[in-house]
Amino acid sequence: MSAPVLTIDGPSGVGKGTVARVIAQQQNWHLLDSGAIYRAFALAVDSRAIDITDEDALEKIAQNLELTFKTHEDSELVSVYLDGQDVSKKLRTEQTGEMASKIASIGVVRAALLKRQQDFAVSPGLVADGRDMGTVVFKDAKFKVYLTASSEERANRRLKQLQAQGHEGIISQILAEVETRDKRDSSREHSPLKPAENALIIDTTNLSLDEVIAQVSELVKA
Ligand code: C5P
Repeated sequence: MSAPVLTIDGPSGVGKGTVARVIAQQQNWHLLDSGAIYRAFALAVDSRAIDITDEDALEKIAQNLELTFKTHEDSELVSVYLDGQDVSKKLRTEQTGEMASKIASIGVVRAALLKRQQDFAVSPGLVADGRDMGTVVFKDAKFKVYLTASSEERANRRLKQLQAQGHEGIISQILAEVETRDKRDSSREHSPLKPAENALIIDTTNLSLDEVIAQVSELVKA
């Protein structure tokens, strides 16, 4: 029997990553942050200075991407290594998110990264977060969740996150970035962001993190 999979999809800044991490810890399951794969891929393309219309070159990079994730026992952070170098900090910048979103709309890139993501579904189980986890990558997943929240709320959450890390941010600029990325991710031809047909949709605009986790936890334990 294949390992159970919980997919968590939704737009940027909705808190998928945090919810996914907590549920994976609760269940003792593996975790796949698929956005990190697209972000690392974007960094790999950027550092090789190739033309992003060159599909053969993109496919080759995707197939040979040397990417490893390292979890730490004493912290909830996951370090990401690309070609042996720690890119964890660079990976999280808005600039990398934007590059990832542009490159993620290319069909050959998505196809080349598909199996790498599916290989994460091993025993005892997997929590996978992203945009197309429930609709494409793990279409047959046992549990599917789609998290949403107003763009204003998501921009506010992003601002608070930046401030907690000692950075500054301008709310109007963050809101514009969030909306641009949402629009691109939901209107693209390949694997657009949308809820899977059988997903539990949770609008988190007025919910605390604990309330969201409780709902997802209930689904998995049911
Ligand atoms: O989730 P995160 O913000 O890290 O994702 C960065 C970008 O990668 C997204 O804006 C999206 O375009 C792309 N992505 C995707 N499919 C996924 C995960 C991320 O297209 N499953």
